[in-house]
Amino acid sequence: MAVFTRCGIKEDVTDDRFETMSRQGSFMLGIEQFIRLQTPQPPLGETPCCLAADFDAAYFNPAFFDAYDIHCPDNIARAANKRQAEYFAGRWLAAKVMENFGIRNFKLSADTRGCPQWPEGLLGSLSHGDDHVQCCVGERKHFRAIGIDVQAPITEDAARKLQMRILSSAERDLLAQSELPLNTAVAMSFSAKESIYKAIYPIVRRYFGYRSAELIAIDEAQQSLRFRLDAELTELPGCPAEVSLSYHCQPERLRTTLLLKTGS
Ligand SMILES: CC(C)(COP(=O)(O)OP(=O)(O)OC[C@H]1O[C@@H](n2cnc3c(N)ncnc32)[C@H](O)[C@@H]1OP(=O)(O)O)[C@@H](O)C(=O)NCCC(=O)NCCS
Repeated sequence: MAVFTRCGIKEDVTDDRFETMSRQGSFMLGIEQFIRLQTPQPPLGETPCCLAADFDAAYFNPAFFDAYDIHCPDNIARAANKRQAEYFAGRWLAAKVMENFGIRNFKLSADTRGCPQWPEGLLGSLSHGDDHVQCCVGERKHFRAIGIDVQAPITEDAARKLQMRILSSAERDLLAQSELPLNTAVAMSFSAKESIYKAIYPIVRRYFGYRSAELIAIDEAQQSLRFRLDAELTELPGCPAEVSLSYHCQPERLRTTLLLKTGS
């Protein structure tokens, strides 16, 4: 047995593993240069555990997968460095979140549609983009669904094109009545719809597009959005008719969060 320190946490590794890691130069890979945890660990209870981290894909080394014993599926092994880095960062962060639930060395797997598989009694969601990753997990006794999405800012030109793809004319009219600039409003709606997909897919177990959730209200004071889900979804067991999401806009990114409480 040898003791290996990563991110300030000491862990035991078998001699064989230590040797493999030494051979790969894992001790010099500098994961601290690659990824940095951003948020302090919150208390548990009825609040989900949400952590964020910034990473730098330029410092990503595919050898991290072996060194940190994170499975790299074939499609990820064949993907570009950026996708490998964000995939690894998501798994790394999910394992950190799990430590808050007393689960060590958690390995996040996914089903054939990419839906993350959480341990019994828990559910969660993750999102990454532009060298940033967030992961949010709660207990099933408190939450029916969790979906999060982070989105980089978009230009007004991009927003004009995107809105035609993802929003109905009624939704576009609603956004136009708000005080929000067009690029923020469209990026936020896009992000909200992706959060909805991540939260609702595990319930309905089928793909659904951007027209399956309709924006019906914006509360700028509360920073929340309300959506009505399509009848094709709501007729499926456990699917809610409407959902509310919170949004949070920062200059570097925008985040939407769907937390559907049990009993709601
Ligand atoms: C799946 C999807 C929502 C991911 O969003 P994205 O902005 O591309 O990427 P993000 O980084 O924010 O999220 C990616 C994570 O979503 C999660 N995810 C992927 N498929 C998922 C699913 N079916 N259910 C729940 N979560 C899923 C995964 O954890 C994934 O990260 P990983 O592959 O590293 O594990 C998006 O690619 C997509 O397919 N959208 C079309 C469906 C949709 O949004 N419909 C709108 C309904 S109103």
